[in-house]
Amino acid sequence: GISYYSYQTIKKAKEAGNGQVNPSIKKDIKKVVDFIDIEDITEKVSLCRCWRSKNWPYCDGAHGAHNKATGDNTGPVVVRHK
Ligand code: FES
Repeated sequence: GISYYSYQTIKKAKEAGNGQVNPSIKKDIKKVVDFIDIEDITEKVSLCRCWRSKNWPYCDGAHGAHNKATGDNTGPVVVRHK
């Protein structure tokens, strides 16, 4: 099992948001999972990977500001037909 010390450390880190990649999306649920039907993708779809989009799970370009502010290099995954 996990030691009491580790448990407390993890609990504190979790409360502080340490190590979390998701700062704000659906924080009231335990795990964010989204479903998009393939049939609904007409041409292509850009899916957010920076966790900053206001149009989750789609990319709205917010990765640009995030990358600029942090030096990160995130961007969407684009799903497209061949
Ligand atoms: Fe998150 Fe573009 S807004 S990848």
